[in-house]
Amino acid sequence: MYFFIKNYGCQMNIYDSLRIADILTNAGHEAVLSVDEANLVILNTCSIRDKVDEKVFSDLGRLKTIKDGSSAIIAVAGCMAQLRSQDIIRRAPYVDIILGPQNIHQIAEIVADMIKNRALDALVSTSSNADDKFRQLSGKFHHRSVSEYLTIQEGCDNFCAYCIVPFTRGREFSRSVSDIVNESKNLISLGVKEITLLGQNVNSYNGEGPDGKSCNLSRLLFELANMDGLERLRYTTSHPRDVDLGIAKAHREIEILAPFLHIPVQSGSDNILKRMNRRYSRDEYFERIEMLREYRPDIAFSSDFIVGFPGENDDDFEQTLELAKKVNYAQAYSFKYSPRPGTIAAKMDNQISDDIKSERLQILQNLLNEQQSTFNQGFIGKHVNVLLVKDGKHEKQLVGRSEYSQAVSVCGNNISVGDMVKVRITAVASHSLVGAAEQ
Ligand code: SAH
Ligand code: SF4
Ligand code: F3S
Repeated sequence: MYFFIKNYGCQMNIYDSLRIADILTNAGHEAVLSVDEANLVILNTCSIRDKVDEKVFSDLGRLKTIKDGSSAIIAVAGCMAQLRSQDIIRRAPYVDIILGPQNIHQIAEIVADMIKNRALDALVSTSSNADDKFRQLSGKFHHRSVSEYLTIQEGCDNFCAYCIVPFTRGREFSRSVSDIVNESKNLISLGVKEITLLGQNVNSYNGEGPDGKSCNLSRLLFELANMDGLERLRYTTSHPRDVDLGIAKAHREIEILAPFLHIPVQSGSDNILKRMNRRYSRDEYFERIEMLREYRPDIAFSSDFIVGFPGENDDDFEQTLELAKKVNYAQAYSFKYSPRPGTIAAKMDNQISDDIKSERLQILQNLLNEQQSTFNQGFIGKHVNVLLVKDGKHEKQLVGRSEYSQAVSVCGNNISVGDMVKVRITAVASHSLVGAAEQ
């Protein structure tokens, strides 16, 4: 069949979508570039905030027409599929396949059954765990770019009060070091130069090491540090509580490890952090930031923030602004708190009105945008190392990312996708840098 995958969620969903594409390609199906050309459509969904759920339902509404009188197959995969299979069947009864995030390895088999027997009812598969998934995901990789994700840990045991992820991806599971090393080699052989290791809580990685004992994230980073052909290594997402001395040392000692860390704080108020069940205080967060800066002085940070968590008052919000000012982020994402059914926070008293959430979000985003822009302005006249990932809009211009994760437009002669080039920054656009490759 001709398949098209639409992705809604986080980086882990992007990784899963690529694995789905590999499995389908290996089974003889063909990837197409738009929904209109497809007769097998897979929506790989997210459930982190309620707006994402609604987007999936509205896309499903539009997809109904491709089903009319045709043999098209529609599959809904991912975190929302895990949680809301019955709602999906009720609101979109024409959906054929529902797969949880740990069941994606079954896609080719289920599609084959559907093709054989078109009268099958919607098939719901949401029961596996990450261990099963990674044991059964196999086969050749296709279509990789120069920068790719690699899931090393999946699931989450932290149960932050607002978060749905522990209910969608299940308990924490870590892949073995040998599995990760093999996949890295596989990616590198396909031309990948930069790997971003992924985990819901990547710092709680504890996969089986080469000696049969459990290996933590910093040791894994050292294992990957000297792989032939690998030019840059990143990892995300870190839970602040689990950022330890080993990580700080890895940032000092591993040359290919990018001096950039996504370390989501969520709130700057101890009161709210406690209610969120984040299990660190603002002072402990600052300590982690300072430790990392001591070991790697040029390290830059990004973060996630939630505004309007139940019970957040003006003073709590003020402390969030203060924390952001003190850390001075290179980049950050901020969201209005969205109650997720089944989580503790959804049942808390003192839910905040949408007006107040919007107002606080605006104030915080203004500050974070200003910080990002100041951070970027500071690079004018300086050099960054850019991994070129794709062609730019103009001739002799390519686009890539710096070690600090900034998007950079680079002009130069004889440069191509996949090159790591030293770039002199000449200008700063709204969210990106512009520069010339040093020849
Ligand atoms: N595993 C990562 C990412 C979780 S989801 C982590 O622990 O940081 C990415 C971000 O979405 C979170 O950092 C948080 O800021 C935001 N988020 C999660 N649940 C949310 C909710 N219910 N409402 C609003 N934002 C939420
Ligand atoms: Fe969600 Fe918290 Fe786990 Fe992150 S650490 S995935 S925010 S429960
Ligand atoms: Fe969304 Fe699931 Fe990722 S809820 S953010 S796709 S882990």
